[in-house]
Amino acid sequence: MKYLITGGAGFIGSHLAESLLKDGHSVTVIDDYSTGSPENLAAVRTNPRLDVVEGDILNLPELEYLITKSDMVFHLAAAVGVELVVHDPVRTIVTNVHGTERVLRGAERSHTKVLIASTSEVYGKSEKEKFNEDDDLLIGPSTNCRWSYACSKLLDEFFGMAYFRAKKMPIIIVRLFNTVGPRQTGRYGMVLPRFVSKALKNESLQVYGDGEQSRCFCHVNDTVRGICGLAGSSKAVGKVFNIGNTEEISINALAERVVKRLKSKSRIVHIPYEKAYESGFEDMMRRLPDISKIDRTTGWKPAYNLNQIIDSVAEYFRKKK
Ligand SMILES: NC(=O)c1ccc[n+]([C@@H]2O[C@H](COP(=O)([O-])OP(=O)(O)OC[C@H]3O[C@@H](n4cnc5c(N)ncnc54)[C@H](O)[C@@H]3O)[C@@H](O)[C@H]2O)c1
Repeated sequence: MKYLITGGAGFIGSHLAESLLKDGHSVTVIDDYSTGSPENLAAVRTNPRLDVVEGDILNLPELEYLITKSDMVFHLAAAVGVELVVHDPVRTIVTNVHGTERVLRGAERSHTKVLIASTSEVYGKSEKEKFNEDDDLLIGPSTNCRWSYACSKLLDEFFGMAYFRAKKMPIIIVRLFNTVGPRQTGRYGMVLPRFVSKALKNESLQVYGDGEQSRCFCHVNDTVRGICGLAGSSKAVGKVFNIGNTEEISINALAERVVKRLKSKSRIVHIPYEKAYESGFEDMMRRLPDISKIDRTTGWKPAYNLNQIIDSVAEYFRKKK
């Protein structure tokens, strides 16, 4: 099969490209290297079945042509990460909304299947124990730009569902929960790579807020396996799926686990949200996915536990030195 990955030089996209190439498929990557990098594709750079196009999906003239000659599109290109979103809200909205619009329009004539990467952020401030795909969503006010990321991704989902319903397009939507693993950088506020890289240097680990907020971390290999399983399932078309791990840990406990596991001398310090982001920043206390839908549809369950994930991220940073 021929696949197109927008954002294919990013963290998740590069792992997806490697996995598809390993399975014998051809892959075209479009990336503007805004947060991704050609280095992420170093291991597969010389593969004759890989084609890399440097360009911005917002204005790349050959976008429709590249979509048309593919059997399926994985649309991952986006402005990602809470820090980036808070500091550059206009770019977030334009990239995420207009980018997805261009991809869907480009796929319309050829009726190409599109999988859209959405996010657990769309659940907003919901206080449910486990987030289910059919839940109501509780987004904060538009005066707080943190929510622009969630809203832009939610609009992508509505766009996708509208193309599915009105134009009978084969669209699949995945809501990714915190995905971690090799090649993810801590630059955009991602907590685990930040902690691991600091712990390896015995530098302080900064916990934002009181650290009692909890998260679940899914290894990128599990995420890619989940995405590929849905891409190949006719039962997934026109639906929304959570993809995430269900092992929950508070950020305080995560910091302690990282320090202990890596035998680090790092101190753990707490930083108020206003200092880390902006005043009035709102965080979610929990973000636990209900993954029964993807399990019922494709039999997917995450395989990596948190210790294996920490080891995998640490190995990446050690090799990178
Ligand atoms: N990593 C996570 O935990 C997570 C969680 C939820 C959702 N997601 C979603 O998964 C997708 C991939 O995220 P990631 O973690 O790999 O982040 P990433 O930043 O590494 O990947 C995004 C890629 O898109 C590229 N890109 C951005 N704007 C572009 C544009 N206009 N044209 C072309 N390329 C562009 C970037 O250079 C980068 O390579 C995103 O859609 C993100 O919203 C990720």
